[in-house]
Amino acid sequence: MSKINSIGILTSGGDAPGMNAAIRAVTRAGIFAGFRVFGIFRGYKGLILDEIEEFSTQNVSNIIQRGGTILKTARCKEFTTPEGRQCAYDVMKRRGIDALVVIGGDGSLTGARIFGNEFSLPIIGLPGTIDNDLYGTDSTIGYDTALNTIMECVDKIRDTATSHERLFFVEVMGRDAGFLALNGALASGAEAAIIPEISMQVDQLGELIGHGFRKSKNSSIVLVAESPVTGGAMGLAQRVKEEYPDYDVRVTILGHLQRGGSPTAFDRILASRMGAAAIDALLDDQRNVMIGIRNDEIVYVPFTKAIKNEKRVNPQKLEVLRRLSI
Ligand code: F6P
Repeated sequence: MSKINSIGILTSGGDAPGMNAAIRAVTRAGIFAGFRVFGIFRGYKGLILDEIEEFSTQNVSNIIQRGGTILKTARCKEFTTPEGRQCAYDVMKRRGIDALVVIGGDGSLTGARIFGNEFSLPIIGLPGTIDNDLYGTDSTIGYDTALNTIMECVDKIRDTATSHERLFFVEVMGRDAGFLALNGALASGAEAAIIPEISMQVDQLGELIGHGFRKSKNSSIVLVAESPVTGGAMGLAQRVKEEYPDYDVRVTILGHLQRGGSPTAFDRILASRMGAAAIDALLDDQRNVMIGIRNDEIVYVPFTKAIKNEKRVNPQKLEVLRRLSI
C-alpha cells in the first residue's frame, strides 16, 4: 500500500456534540504521527468544491468543549453520483490528500464506503450521530450528550405536568431508532417509551397510563421516538385524545435542541479516543472501517457491517421501564 503523508478530515450529515472533540483528536494525533492534516469544510460538498485548509494544532485549540462542528456540515446530493465522487477524487489528488477521516452517521459512512471502494482510498469512519444507530459500537459520538439534554428537558416538563395533572407526549429524535426515546424514558422516570422497534397499541398505552393515574400519580410522561412507525407524538396524542377524552393531553417536540450544547465528559473522552484510534487505524493499514467502542475497548468495524447490520435495542430495558412505571 502506498505511504500516507496527508490526510483530510470532514464532518457530514447531522451535527452531533463531540464532533469538535473528534476533529481535535484526529488533527493532533495525525500531526503527532507526522501527517499533514487538512480540514475539509461542509462535508463532501466542500471536498467537491475544494473548500480545504491545512490545519495546525492551533486550528483545533479551544474546541473540545464546543457543540456543533467547526468544519460545518452538509448533506450532499452530488456525492451520491459517480460524477460528483470523481470531482472529489480529483480534488484529493490535486491537493495530495492520501486518506480521509469521515465523521458522521449512516449516510455519511455509506458515502465513504462507496468512495473508498471506487478509488481504492484509505478511509476511516468515526460514528458521529446523536441517534446511536450504528452497528458495532456501544455508543456513537453525541448520543450521550443528547440523552442528557432529553433528561434535563423532561425533568422540566415534569414540573408543569405534575402541577396541571397532565399527560405529556414528548417526541425525541432518533430517525428510525428508539435508543434516545427508550434510554431517555429510563433516565427521566417516564411512564412509557414508544419506539419504532416495538409496536404498542393505543389501548395498551391508555391502560398503562390509566394504571399510573389510578395509582395516585397525578401526571404521566410518554417519550415517543420520531418515526413514521410510531406516528410521532402528535399522531399518538390525537389517537389517545379520541379514545380517552378525559385525559388532559399536551405534546412537546424537543427537535433540534437535542443536537446542540457542550458535549458531556463521556462524549469528549469517546471522541478523543476514537479520533486517536482513526490515526492508529491508518498507520495499521486499515481501510474502510469505522472505529467503534465495545466494553471500553476500541474496535474496527467494517463499513458494511456498521451500516447494514441492525443495532438492536435491549428489550430488558423496556421491561425495566414497564416495571418501574407502576
Ligand atoms: O441523524 C440525526 C438527526 O438529528 C435525526 O435524529 C433526525 O431525524 C435528523 O437528523 C434531522 O435532520 P435535519 O437536521 O436535516 O432536520
